[in-house]
Amino acid sequence: MKIIDNIKELKEEIKKLQGSVGLVPTMGALHNGHKSLIDKAVAENDNVVVSIFVNPIQFCAGEDLDKYPRQLQKDAELCENSGVKIVFAPKVSEMYQEDKNNLTLICPPYSVVDKLCGKSRAGHFDGVCSVVAKLFNLTKANRAYFGQKDAQQLFIIQKMVRDLDFDIEIVPCPIVREKDNLALSSRNKYLSENERKIALNISKSLFEAKRLYKEGALTKRAIIDNSLKLMSDLDVEYIEFVDKNTFVEQDEINNNTLVLIAAKTPETNTRLIDNILLWE
Ligand code: PAF
Repeated sequence: MKIIDNIKELKEEIKKLQGSVGLVPTMGALHNGHKSLIDKAVAENDNVVVSIFVNPIQFCAGEDLDKYPRQLQKDAELCENSGVKIVFAPKVSEMYQEDKNNLTLICPPYSVVDKLCGKSRAGHFDGVCSVVAKLFNLTKANRAYFGQKDAQQLFIIQKMVRDLDFDIEIVPCPIVREKDNLALSSRNKYLSENERKIALNISKSLFEAKRLYKEGALTKRAIIDNSLKLMSDLDVEYIEFVDKNTFVEQDEINNNTLVLIAAKTPETNTRLIDNILLWE
């Protein structure tokens, strides 16, 4: 396995590869959720590239860019043991050689960003799409793997690929959870013991919502009330219901409903997201 930190060498190595290329874009601090993406990519492609880059242009002012966990050595070991061919881990100055505030960006339309996470994170999805497009160009990947935990991100990237005719297949990968159902996230590292217990109420709310729906509690209101009660120790940013195929908010829920939650924990102010399909 090669660890590459510059674009020139990456391009040379990509040229040498034979067969299909699978890309797993990450910001590092790899956990079993990332591992499941990597394993799928390794199973489905001749070569797998994992990018590890904490992308500054997708963080908003006041967010956790500086404290975001960085552990390249450990991440590289996980990649090596999983059969990855190339880890691409560039510095910010390598990825963005010109002024970061003067870049050509890919900006998804308001209809998809002016809701859910995009509402409180202005410019976030411009940063995500722009870096992901760069990674697609650099790696010439045939497939790219994204987790369904970041459901809005996945939807927006799928749209970008369709709208701009990228020649790449986007492979959605299921959310990986701890035994107690906490969705895996690099940000779980921030949680105190007490907060981790409190954070469990996010997935609990979602699983309860699904149960209520299946039992016939068909109103959004009933589900919201129940969830907010469960999440009373969290600062809930949103609990939202969208059609899984269009991401349009629903007035009434149905078998296509995806329920999404974002909430902050009380001590470390860690922002966590999770989601569930009411019917699957
Ligand atoms: O999901 C992430 O970790 C990031 O948003 C991504 C896709 C690697 C882009 O920086």
